[in-house]
Amino acid sequence: MEESISSLPFRNSSLGLEERVEDLLKRLTIEEKFKLSSGRLMWFTKKVKRLGIDSFVMYDGPHGVRPDYKGERQCTYFPSAICRAATWNPLLSQEFGVAIAEEVRDLGAHMILAPGINIQRTPMCGRTFEYQTEDPYLNKILAVSVVKGIQSQRIAACVKHFICNNQETNRFTYSAVINERTLQEIYFPAFKATVRKADAWSFMSCYNKVNGIYGSEHFDLIRNRLMNKWGFRGFVVSDWNATVYTSTEGCINAGLSLEMPKANVYNVKKMQKAFEEGKFSLEYLNDNVRRLLRVMFLVGFFDNPDSLPKGTRNTPEHQTLARKIAQEGIVLLKNENELLPLNIKKIKKIAVLGPNAELKTSLGGGSSTNFPPYEITALQGITERCRDKIMIVNSPSDADVSILFIGLNHEENMDAEDTDKISFKLPAEQIKLVKETIKQNKNTIVVLINGSPISMEDWINEVPVLVEAWYAGMEAGRAIADVLFGDVNPSGKLPITFPKRLSDSPAHKSDKTFPGNDKVLYDEGIFVGYRHFEYNKIKPLFPFGYGLSYTTFKYSKIKMENYTIAADETIRVSIELENIGAKGGAEVVQLYLHDVESCLPRPFKELKGFQKIFLQPKQKKIINFDLTRQDLAFFDENLNDWVVENGTFKILIGSSSEDIRLETEFYYSN
Ligand code: BGC
Repeated sequence: MEESISSLPFRNSSLGLEERVEDLLKRLTIEEKFKLSSGRLMWFTKKVKRLGIDSFVMYDGPHGVRPDYKGERQCTYFPSAICRAATWNPLLSQEFGVAIAEEVRDLGAHMILAPGINIQRTPMCGRTFEYQTEDPYLNKILAVSVVKGIQSQRIAACVKHFICNNQETNRFTYSAVINERTLQEIYFPAFKATVRKADAWSFMSCYNKVNGIYGSEHFDLIRNRLMNKWGFRGFVVSDWNATVYTSTEGCINAGLSLEMPKANVYNVKKMQKAFEEGKFSLEYLNDNVRRLLRVMFLVGFFDNPDSLPKGTRNTPEHQTLARKIAQEGIVLLKNENELLPLNIKKIKKIAVLGPNAELKTSLGGGSSTNFPPYEITALQGITERCRDKIMIVNSPSDADVSILFIGLNHEENMDAEDTDKISFKLPAEQIKLVKETIKQNKNTIVVLINGSPISMEDWINEVPVLVEAWYAGMEAGRAIADVLFGDVNPSGKLPITFPKRLSDSPAHKSDKTFPGNDKVLYDEGIFVGYRHFEYNKIKPLFPFGYGLSYTTFKYSKIKMENYTIAADETIRVSIELENIGAKGGAEVVQLYLHDVESCLPRPFKELKGFQKIFLQPKQKKIINFDLTRQDLAFFDENLNDWVVENGTFKILIGSSSEDIRLETEFYYSN
């Protein structure tokens, strides 16, 4: 690089961030600003050689880095987001963020297109596996942890897809018709928290429209709320080709800094023309470019690489983390007669069966595809664990125990991007296989490998043991064996309700609510997920927050510091948790809130706190939860503000949204 460029003020890392940004911004010509506003070759921004601006590089995705389409550069494949969410362990999400950022850095890139945090509105969404949960609070806590982890390495997170991309059908054209209260209470909280609590450096706009306007040119969503109200200082990038039906000026004015993967509305000629016609202001263009530059500085783009956190890739530490997340994310759904954990000393023969026993899940599903150096399938994991001790056979009638791996995969119309599922049921041949296997061996363990709720009505009652193993990353097989043989006590809890029937599910009242057409009516409003099931007294197959353990936890001694609470006071509630079983294990203690009387309908339960606690047998622990006024609030559209009414609130603490073990109440007064 020329001597003169390297001595310019913006290159001087001892100057303040904003000073460097402004220095670089003022040196750019308007054409260079246009050029910087769109990408090239899928993952790169255009260079401005005159000023030594190289390409800013961003890669997918939410389960590990995917730097290309062929797997020439391999990376760690972590469990799907739904599995990570099922750990209910924010620390693991943070460590995951650190690890993927280290891999991004090792590849010489600057941003990871993750986390994906759209609310799981329907179990039919093809990307349910890529998103975390149906609940805004759990979503928020985990999203903040991931973003903090990523950015601690000076790599930008890109929080996606802003907003209401809750289905894949017609994703380029539908308009989510949604009211303000629902946005505020359900769909915004996690996005907002990544800005307010984790200072997210980038957001990705959605493909769809929100109340008639495309996400990439949504002035109210981006400029007004995200930037002005929430205080976002980063930049907004379009989802790939999300700008096809938008206008140049619409996107510039709304606050879209970067159009990916190539210039369409941000084609230099189109931008020039729109500028000459006075369709956008220079102030907005400058603001958009300034934001991109700011993130370039934040990731150390112009700084000495030795001054930045170091990158690493495919390390044993990352692989161990992938296994740990899988171990904690696997959910034990049913365990009759305590068939699990399997006793390696007593069992002689195990039959391992089913279409998913040898399924590799890294390749496929769309942009969350990964190319890991290896992937341990369920069969491999079990075989490895049983080596020299238990014989693996094919016939259930010949075995002490049979383990049947069924579920979905990443093919079109299953758990895959760009399509939604076409059936809520498992393929008929799998249901047949379950029934036949049970007939031959009553000690049959069904392990699901899938990324979204499925119907189980036809076969669940016949199955004594059921495990939800999701798509659990490159160490999946080992983690599954760890849980089945009791080396790990399961502690995962469902981050999404499993309905009995699809028609029980909140988004499935009519074809106007799902899949809709040019409009998708979010008529269920705030009653998403368990909020809907509870309010309408519909019993799900497995409730939100549910998951069994090999030990038993006792909840007792609920206490509050004060039973009358005023506006500025913290509400502290404590309980005692004891492991009264024979095995060490972790419990996710969940706190739900209920507003006993309110002027607007409110859910019966809203998750407002949780803690994952590990206890040895006989060990006990006092667990404290602190709530604030905001935790009690609902959004009132008439006042266009959050409101807390005077009155009684119940605190419900338990092991799932259905299994409430302790209750107390307090009186709140403004
Ligand atoms: C997906 C994004 C992804 C992008 C780049 C889009 O189709 O919706 O989530 O990051 O492609 O691969």
